[in-house]
Amino acid sequence: MTEVQPQPGSVVPDALTTVLLGHNAFQFTRAGVELGLFDLLERSPGTPRDRIGAELGLAERPLDILLLGVTSLRLVERTDDGYVNAKAISDLFTGGHWELVKAVVGFEAYVTYPGLVDFTESLRADSNIGLRRYPGDGATVYHRLSEDPELLKVFYHFMGTWSAVASKHLIRYGDFSSSRRILDVGGGDATMAIAVAGAHPDVEVTVLEIPKVVDLARKRVEEAGLGDRVKVVEGDIFAGDYPEGHDTVMYVHQLQIWPQDRIRVLLGHGHSALPEGGRVLILNSMSEDDYDGPLMAALASPFFAAVAGEGGMLYSWEGYEKSLKEVGFDRVRRTRCTEAITPHGIITAVK
Ligand SMILES: C[S@@+](CC[C@H](N)C(=O)[O-])C[C@H]1O[C@@H](n2cnc3c(N)ncnc32)[C@H](O)[C@@H]1O
Repeated sequence: MTEVQPQPGSVVPDALTTVLLGHNAFQFTRAGVELGLFDLLERSPGTPRDRIGAELGLAERPLDILLLGVTSLRLVERTDDGYVNAKAISDLFTGGHWELVKAVVGFEAYVTYPGLVDFTESLRADSNIGLRRYPGDGATVYHRLSEDPELLKVFYHFMGTWSAVASKHLIRYGDFSSSRRILDVGGGDATMAIAVAGAHPDVEVTVLEIPKVVDLARKRVEEAGLGDRVKVVEGDIFAGDYPEGHDTVMYVHQLQIWPQDRIRVLLGHGHSALPEGGRVLILNSMSEDDYDGPLMAALASPFFAAVAGEGGMLYSWEGYEKSLKEVGFDRVRRTRCTEAITPHGIITAVK
């Protein structure tokens, strides 16, 4: 019989281990998602070890590694018969958030990771040095992804899923009572435009986007049967010649891509395009004004600092509000989307 020595107390607490080796923790989560482990355990709680190996097509050693990781991270629990998803994972399935989890894993694995090796360098340089890790010479990661059909698919699956969740907050908390024609600046695959037009039958939305994304957005608008009220227009959001005739300009998950001086340029273009009394609306995840949280805003920021545009972050409420006032907006109002799983908020202001 093997003699087992008593364990000394852990020198490094689990939380610190998870942070120090966090990359590995993510890779276990990713493997569990991509191999279908969590799906299997949700379908068949209590699946025995050998059955998991057979269903996932894993040999003995890889199966040991995977189960070691996901149980140690408490994503999965061992029972007398086999394995079950931990409650936190199960809750994501029953709460209808599993598609979002899968989309976030795809985004982190294929879009974020390559550029994040340059995070420290990007902080030093106050610029998105990590963009160099993506093929092409497009000015932003979005321009570069749009040249690669596979990555474009991964990114907009994530962005569309994320925005579909966020759109529920916009519909619930956003005030569109005085909006008839909305301009959605960098509106992506039109998920947000479709949601707003769907919820407000008198409203028309124009999405402004880069060429390859325009094709994607037009297809989605057509599938939603909203072609008469949602238009998708090709253009550069920094060019300043925004389409005319809108009473509301909307920036959704847009301003966090840029440094503050570029944000003022974008907000300034929105201001010029609006009539007196016209409104601007920002929907984004927000940091607190003291920059001490929340964790989601912190952990989502490195991608914008190191990769996305010219260097950005999930700014605080106050950061956006200051810029709005500087370009001439007034009656600035903030609304927290309180039941959001992300720290989403809405800021509106009037010209
Ligand atoms: C983070 S995504 C947000 C998309 C959308 N607003 C949403 O919430 O789903 C940023 C979008 O801005 C677009 N974008 C970035 N730079 C742009 C530019 N110079 N002109 C037009 N669109 C741009 C990108 O193509 C991308 O779809």
